[in-house]
Amino acid sequence: MIGVMIILGIETSCDDTCVAIVEVKGQKKPKFRILSNIVSSQVEIHRKYGGVYPTLAKRAHEKNLPLVLKQALEGAKLLPKDIDAVAVTVGPGLEPCLWVGVNFAKNLAKKWKKPIIPVNHIESHILANWLKISEKLSRIKFPAICLVVSGGHTQIILMKGVGKYKILCETRDDAAGECFDKTARILGLPYPGGPAIAAEAAKSGREQFSATLPRPMIYQKNYDFSFSGLKTAVLYHSKQTKKTKKYIQQMASEIQQAIIDVLVRKTIKAAKDFKVKTIILGGGVTANNELRKQFKEKIKKDIPNIQYLTPNIQFCTDNAAMTAVAGYYNKNQATKNWKDIKANANIKL
Ligand code: KG4
Ligand code: ZN
Repeated sequence: MIGVMIILGIETSCDDTCVAIVEVKGQKKPKFRILSNIVSSQVEIHRKYGGVYPTLAKRAHEKNLPLVLKQALEGAKLLPKDIDAVAVTVGPGLEPCLWVGVNFAKNLAKKWKKPIIPVNHIESHILANWLKISEKLSRIKFPAICLVVSGGHTQIILMKGVGKYKILCETRDDAAGECFDKTARILGLPYPGGPAIAAEAAKSGREQFSATLPRPMIYQKNYDFSFSGLKTAVLYHSKQTKKTKKYIQQMASEIQQAIIDVLVRKTIKAAKDFKVKTIILGGGVTANNELRKQFKEKIKKDIPNIQYLTPNIQFCTDNAAMTAVAGYYNKNQATKNWKDIKANANIKL
């Protein structure tokens, strides 16, 4: 049928092995339907190291990919001949992990005689919101401010349209997700730290807590972030204190709130400064319910007429459905010169 495209997405930039198949209908106003979305998590492998161990992640991707592909095809009830293009994350991410996905995609595309589309992982996190386009959300208004917060990145991006991005700031040291992961480890909580901190924070209650953590760079004029000081503050405070259950819960709540305060304030400032029509969140940290809620409340109070978009929770963390969507918007880069596709761990948006 004319106007329908079926894209197989592959994403291995970090520690999730992901394959998804997405149907795209319509050209002017494309609508996306997920036919299958498989995420094989490696959390159990990395948990004992308190973070992602790249060599082990690479090996696990190699082992998982054929099975995850099989599950994706079976889930979508499709055969290779039904796929129109293969979209693959080429960066940014962990170099050895990216190469596994890229090489797998190249071999597959060659074997199936399909074009391959290189995809930027940061753009994928933004375009995860496009999976929401439906009767209810028919149009995303530009310009927009995007906040991408994940284990590897914390960026505010001015977006004038799909494919038109200007990075306004990045983190000077740790990413927000990294800060969740590292402070969780200090408190003896499991990897990944974000969900673990959120769960402890939810139990914390309203009693006064002895520590107020810094909100790094919150009042600076630029939009830059810095989270390593926060981690150090947690380290020092927790060394001097007995880590009781109550202490861990209260400290988790304070960590989460410090990170939220900085992210919300800087993003809203950028939205006001650039007089944008939309705020778009993306990346693993935006799965945080408290962050989503506080953003919503602050936007309602400060800039009520703005459109506020967050991906559905399962599309905040790494997945290949968003890779397929980004592949669709980069279809002009589709190529059958498979050997030209290369991983690039530091690729910019
Ligand atoms: O986007 P993502 O899956 O992978 C990267 O591209 O890095 O993000 C993973 C990060 C981890 O640091 C994890 O701790 C964090 O997202 N994360 C969360 C939550 N769920 C995942 N952080 C805070 N709250 C959550 N609920
Ligand atoms: Zn990611």
